[in-house]
This record gives sequence, structure tokens and C-alpha cells, in this order.
Amino acid sequence: MPAAPLRLGLAGLGTVGIGVVKIVQREAALIAARAGRPVVVTAVSARDPKKNRDADLSGYAWETDPVALATRPDVDVFVEVMGGHDGPAKAATEAAIAAGKDVVTANKALLAHHGQALALAAEAAGRTIRFEAAVAGGIPVIKALTEGLAGNRIKRVMGVMNGTCNYILTRMQSAGLPYETVFEEARQLGYLEADPNLDVGGIDAGHKLSLLSAIAFGTRVSFDAVELEGIGAVSIDDIRLAEQMGYRIKLLGVAQMTGRGLEQRMTPCLVPAASPLGQLQGGTNMVVLEGDSVGQIVLRGPGAGQGPTASAVMADVIDLARGCRVPAFGLPAAALAEPVPARSATPAPYYLRMRLLDKPGALAKIATCMGDAGISIDQMRQINQPGEADDDAIVLIVTHKASPADIAHAMAQFDRTGVLVGRPVAIRIEEI
Ligand code: NAP
Ligand code: HSE
Repeated sequence: MPAAPLRLGLAGLGTVGIGVVKIVQREAALIAARAGRPVVVTAVSARDPKKNRDADLSGYAWETDPVALATRPDVDVFVEVMGGHDGPAKAATEAAIAAGKDVVTANKALLAHHGQALALAAEAAGRTIRFEAAVAGGIPVIKALTEGLAGNRIKRVMGVMNGTCNYILTRMQSAGLPYETVFEEARQLGYLEADPNLDVGGIDAGHKLSLLSAIAFGTRVSFDAVELEGIGAVSIDDIRLAEQMGYRIKLLGVAQMTGRGLEQRMTPCLVPAASPLGQLQGGTNMVVLEGDSVGQIVLRGPGAGQGPTASAVMADVIDLARGCRVPAFGLPAAALAEPVPARSATPAPYYLRMRLLDKPGALAKIATCMGDAGISIDQMRQINQPGEADDDAIVLIVTHKASPADIAHAMAQFDRTGVLVGRPVAIRIEEI
């Protein structure tokens, strides 16, 4: 007797949802062969039933309410690709679990805020929640961490996880354009989320990092503890000066377990221009995983878009069709530890840029602040830009390794010197 099909209820028929429909329809035979049973969509939901959606949906039942879709008896797996960390996405996911369905979602915001509660509920109901598409789009990083590296103690997780920010930063660098101009370009190209601050404020990437941290370190998802800084303050001057010194600026996520607790940060950093992260162009994502046995592995690929994201959703669906069940965060949810959040204290070299009054002793005052903070200077130079007023000058300093607290202390002291013009900039140089 042929195996029973796995029946999907698909909530969301936007970029990702339609991508899923296309793969299910186009690759039906391949998927059935790989999964050992057919995978079919039985019912769908979206807001507007009249919208033209570039796919044949005529064979599917339509539900106006995603909660009704999630609880239908002819649905085995609820696929949530609507988005939003509360509202219908949360209500329908909870309803699906309560009705005994497995869940596949691409929704990093939902999991960053409610991942622990949803994983507990799913396990209590004997079901599974999967989210490959939620982090780094088409890159199979969740599978790599939960399965491929299950025999390792993970030492560090690092990466560029927001394609829009990487597009903006690389376009600023290659075209020499200011942030505001490239931000507008990104908006016109449709790269930005409906709320652009999710992208440029580092929130979307912070959501993703918090999910990877939970798996890597066996801790509950703790998005609120991620140190977040977006790219809005990165200037074309910093990008140019970094390039001259052999660095590129990236919105970089780093998570590591230290003796003081779990450090998670998503901030602009300088990385060597010649490194794999420095070479990353446009909307591409890259995740670097470091395990005690495997060493360092690098995963690179499309972080967004219809095909890549639907590819990741389908990987989860096919796993469920095959009967592969892995706890959402790699451990039973009840066994995940409450993390002790630690502010980033790992020393690193820093890039400092400031504008100083161009008068005798100005630089000495800054150097004294740094010496008093215990910071050693590696390089220092004054840059007089053609056409700029000659009563002040840009000064660039690269430090030897210093703690973030010492850098913050020195920056506070700069304010008292009376030689500073405007705000200084400090960007960490990440060793990779
Ligand atoms: P999208 O294009 O905006 O599509 C969202 C879909 O959800 C639309 O079909 C919309 O209906 C439907 N929807 C929204 N609210 C609803 C409600 N209350 N009831 C029923 N349907 C509702 O979004 P997307 O880009 O596909 O993203 C979906 C999810 O995947 C999000 O969580 C996103 O973060 C995640 N994700 C996206 C990408 C990507 O490249 N796009 C990559 C990784 C992860 P209408 O069409 O009728 O408006
Ligand atoms: N806004 C996200 C990005 C989409 O730019 O990477 C994929 O999560």
C-alpha cells in the first residue's frame, strides 16, 4: 500500500509561501522519492483571497483564519510563513501544537520572543517545531548545528546574518556612496522589511543570533540579552578609512560562552578585507561555527529570497515526512539552561575615529586619556582632507587589544579634554 501523504497547511502566501507551493508542485515526484511518501498542500491562508499570487492554488482549501487552518483535521504539518512575533502567527502556531500538529516556520521574530514556550508546548504534545528558514535563509545552519556538529562543544558562533545590511555596507564601500543614499536604494529595490529598523537596527540579525546561541550553547533563547547596534551610524568616512587599513565594516554577530556567562552581540565590526567575511558581498550571508573537535567551518549562501527560503522550509518538511525528529534547539526544551547574560568583555583591537581641534597638545591629551584607561596605541594618524577647514582634523587610532569597558572609559574621558569636535566613533576589530 502506498505511504500516506504528509499534508501541509500553509499560512502565508507571500514571497516564502508561494516559493513553498512552487517546490511542492514542481518537485512532487522527487520529494516523494526522497521522503518515502508524497508531500501535499491541502489548505492555505492569507489575508486577501483575491490577490494574484503567481501560482495555481485552485486545488487547495482556503481558510481566512490561520488558526482555523492550523487545526484542520486534514493538516499534519502547519507551515507558518506569515511573519510577526505576536498576533496571528503566534496564535496559529500555538493552536497547531495544541491540535497535535508539527510546525515548520521561517519566523525568527516569533521564535526569538517565544521559542522556549513554543518548544516546551510542542514537546509536551509530542510534536516538533522546526525553523531552518528562520536563520540565514537558504543556508542549512540549523541542521549543521543540531545534527552535523552534535558531537562538538561549540566555542563560538559568528556571522553576517542580515543580507540587507550587508548590501548597504558593501554598496557604500564599492560605490563610495553615503548611508542615506544606499538606504534609499535598498528601499526602492524592495530589500527592506516593512519596518526597516528590523534590518538596519540589527534586530532581525539579533533574532537569528539568539536562535543559533540557544542551539550552540544549550541555553534558552535570550534575545533580550543580545547587545544590539545597527548600521545607521556607520559613515562613508569609516568605510573608506577602514578600507585603507585593510578592513571592511560588517554587521557581525558573535556569540560565545565565557567564564562570566553568555556573550551575544550584533554590532558593526571591522574584519580583515581579505578574510571570507571581509569578502562577503551584497545580500549574501555567512555563518562561521567553531567546534572543539571540528575546528572552524564556514557556511555561505543566500540569506533571503523566495527560492532559498522555500528550500529551507522544504528541508524541514521533508525531514518530518521521513520521520526525523530533532528537538527544536538540539536538547529537550526543559533541559535548556537559563543563560547568564554577560556584557561583551573579550578584549579586541579597536578602530577609533574622531575630529580634534588642530592645535598643539590636542593629540597628546587624547593619548593621555588612552594611557590612563590602560589602552595601548598600535597606530595613530592625522588625516587632513582636502577642502576641509584647517582648524580641526580627523584623527584615526588603532589600539592594541583593549576591553570594551576600557574603550568606553577612554571615550568618556575624551569628552573632558576640550579638544574634541563632535562625537568620536569606536568600532571593534574582530579577530576571525
Ligand atoms: P510576505 O511576502 O509579506 O508574505 C506574508 C504573507 O502572510 C502574505 O501572504 C500575507 O497575506 C500573509 N499574512 C499576513 N498576515 C496574515 C494574517 N493575519 N492572516 C493570514 N495571512 C496573513 O512575507 P515573506 O517575505 O514571505 O516572509 C514570511 C516569513 O518568512 C516571515 O516570518 C519572514 O521573516 C520570514 N523570512 C522571509 C525571508 C524572505 O526572504 N522573504 C527570508 C527568511 C525568513 P496577503 O498576501 O494576503 O497580504
Ligand atoms: N531582512 C532579512 C535580510 C530577510 O535582509 O536578511 C531574511 O531574513
